[in-house]
Amino acid sequence: MAKPTARTADKHRLYEMSVQDPTEEIRFLRRVYRDVFGSEPKVLREDFCGTAAVCCRWVRISPEHRALGIDLDAEVLEWARAHNLPSAGRAAPRVRLHRGNVLSPPRARAHVVTAMNFSYFTFKERPILLSYFRKVRRTLHAKGLFFLDIYGGPEAQIPQIEELVHPGFSYLWDQDAYNPITGDYRCFIHFRFTDGNGIRKAFRYDWRLWSLPEVRDLLREAGFEEIRVYWEGTSADGEGNGVFRPALRPVNDPAWIAYIVAGPRVRSPARGA
Ligand SMILES: C[S@@+](CC[C@H](N)C(=O)[O-])C[C@H]1O[C@@H](n2cnc3c(N)ncnc32)[C@H](O)[C@@H]1O
Repeated sequence: MAKPTARTADKHRLYEMSVQDPTEEIRFLRRVYRDVFGSEPKVLREDFCGTAAVCCRWVRISPEHRALGIDLDAEVLEWARAHNLPSAGRAAPRVRLHRGNVLSPPRARAHVVTAMNFSYFTFKERPILLSYFRKVRRTLHAKGLFFLDIYGGPEAQIPQIEELVHPGFSYLWDQDAYNPITGDYRCFIHFRFTDGNGIRKAFRYDWRLWSLPEVRDLLREAGFEEIRVYWEGTSADGEGNGVFRPALRPVNDPAWIAYIVAGPRVRSPARGA
């Protein structure tokens, strides 16, 4: 890719390059699903899909795989249609992009529903997050799993900017403000280019920083019977290694990312995912 500049850069592509890895994410979803149900998930729903990168990758697995992406924002869905859907080739007709609120999802049942990159933090009130989780459960197939990610640790609450350098640009995660009473949490993503220019406030998030115990409690209240937390392993330099395993007593890092997987209680053929 040519070096991006403020004039040529596409903020959606830079976002994908910085925080998404659909191939790895799908590998994880399929591995866990197969461990729990002993079969292959075919229907994916990507809530808060944004550019629908995961949907467009999912349908390329086989002619039986279908995907539904939901997002409120017409502009980002248009971007997905123009830039990501063509990458699905002949599988593109098996991606459906729905402009709407995840609080009113289509009825079609999915084997896998995802809410990634902490997007559900947008729901700041307990009854609303509970209602979202209930709707996910009702629209899951009987053999269905809900995947969410979450991050936390004391460093998550501290206003600070973390910079990750990519070829030709830097991604800056700006934890701008945190209110310890309400949990209100304002963050931005900025991009900086090698020519010194950049895109400030390319994305803004007005979230509540939910804790993992709160999210687990709400999932249970919403009717999910089995809730597992997959914790990221650590490499020799102390950084996360991208490998997520089920955990009960994880290392209490100052900043961590985890996946939560919620579904029905399964007796067999679970092999202890
Ligand atoms: C952080 S981006 C997530 C993009 C992508 N799924 C990912 O994993 O990186 C959040 C997206 O959620 C969308 N969104 C926010 N509230 C929503 C809602 N209530 N229903 C549907 N989409 C929503 C925004 O328009 C935005 O595209």
